[in-house]
Amino acid sequence: MKTVSGFSKMSKSEKINWLSEQLGKEAKHLVKSMPNYWHQDQEVQKRFDEFSENTLTNYDLPFGIAPNFLINGKVYSVPMVIEESSVVAAASLGAKFWLERGGFKTTVIATKKVGQVHFKWQGPKEKLYSFFNERKSDLLNAVAHLTTNMEKRGGGIVNLTLVDMTHKIENYYQLKLEAETCNAMGANFINSILEELARVFKGAVLLDNSFNSNEKDVQIIMCILSNYTPDCIVEASVECSIEDLGQFAGDMGPREFAEKFSTAVRIAEIDPNRAVTHNKGIMNGIDSVVIATGNDFRAIEACAHAYAARDGQYRSLSTVSLSDDKFKFSIRVPLAVGTVGGLTSLHPLAKTSLAILENPSAQELMQVMAAVGLAQNFGAVKSLVTTGIQKGHMKLHLLNILNQLDATQSEIEKGKEFFVDKVVSYTGVRDFLNSIRG
Ligand code: MEV
Repeated sequence: MKTVSGFSKMSKSEKINWLSEQLGKEAKHLVKSMPNYWHQDQEVQKRFDEFSENTLTNYDLPFGIAPNFLINGKVYSVPMVIEESSVVAAASLGAKFWLERGGFKTTVIATKKVGQVHFKWQGPKEKLYSFFNERKSDLLNAVAHLTTNMEKRGGGIVNLTLVDMTHKIENYYQLKLEAETCNAMGANFINSILEELARVFKGAVLLDNSFNSNEKDVQIIMCILSNYTPDCIVEASVECSIEDLGQFAGDMGPREFAEKFSTAVRIAEIDPNRAVTHNKGIMNGIDSVVIATGNDFRAIEACAHAYAARDGQYRSLSTVSLSDDKFKFSIRVPLAVGTVGGLTSLHPLAKTSLAILENPSAQELMQVMAAVGLAQNFGAVKSLVTTGIQKGHMKLHLLNILNQLDATQSEIEKGKEFFVDKVVSYTGVRDFLNSIRG
């Protein structure tokens, strides 16, 4: 591939042409066909192009619905954007099962977000602390113009503290900002405040005569929100009689199933190898709603996994408790999401997703996501401790394999019929197609 300058200045078609010229025949053809994926509505396409940079086309993902989610007495049809087969099916199945058993009970435990001004300062730390305590209200007043609107909506800054980090890095401190950002994810709100705070703080230290000339210099390293939000957290749980689990138990009795399920979750609590996969299943559910609603799945992922390792070992985000006759399954997960701002109203399908969810508040959306994560986890673990996941997964994956092998519609129908009672594998499907194609 050749290097290029001025790529960003080229039009979309010029970019496509430039790229295709660098490639061999097959890739050239693929790149040339990218306009096929442009949106038919030019206004919408323009908006997609403006979300990011150097855009050539759109990358489609399936948008599905998991109906029947009963959460705190309200029924939701949940939009899910995901490419993996069986995720929406598992969520829907879980939703239906729990619908008949009181549904999901969810609680938002806290909604606080955090941002940090990271800086270095040299001098006696007591002097810095006494300056900070004296000037804290001035600092907050200096950013009041940035918080007025959020305050009108019930949010704003809830705390500002000076954190001594000099035991970790010489002369390193933080200004730690805690904020409530209502229905916004809050990244822009927090980052704007932090940058202004840093500027005012640096200026105030410089002008303060209690500091000698060496102490007047605050070196701002960076200002940025933290995507670790253990205080923006939600809990979801489901509960049923152990007897009710009988329908999943197959040859086992319901009690044996419940105990096996509980052991599987316990394994994910103590073994990071299993915990990562266990939590990946939870994130299958959560991410698909995060993406559908135009939220930032990288932030959600990074935070969920850091939270899962909060005591120093990576563990399951969900837990099971069994009593004599009750099965209770719950999850606690940090979810800093928004229902206003960001892509939520700009991406037409994010807006549609929120409309399908009846325009929830950020707190309500956190609860929906936690419930879907739990349903997903229930579906995965249930399959793992009974049939194994491949049976259901490969049944749903069959269509992908048939499509990969360029099956016609009639071959697809025959394939579905043939594999109804057989194990699906790539080789098996290929052999089947070869046999009917003669
Ligand atoms: C696959 O995407 C997710 C699972 O591996 C989750 C799990 O193992 O719990 C099935």
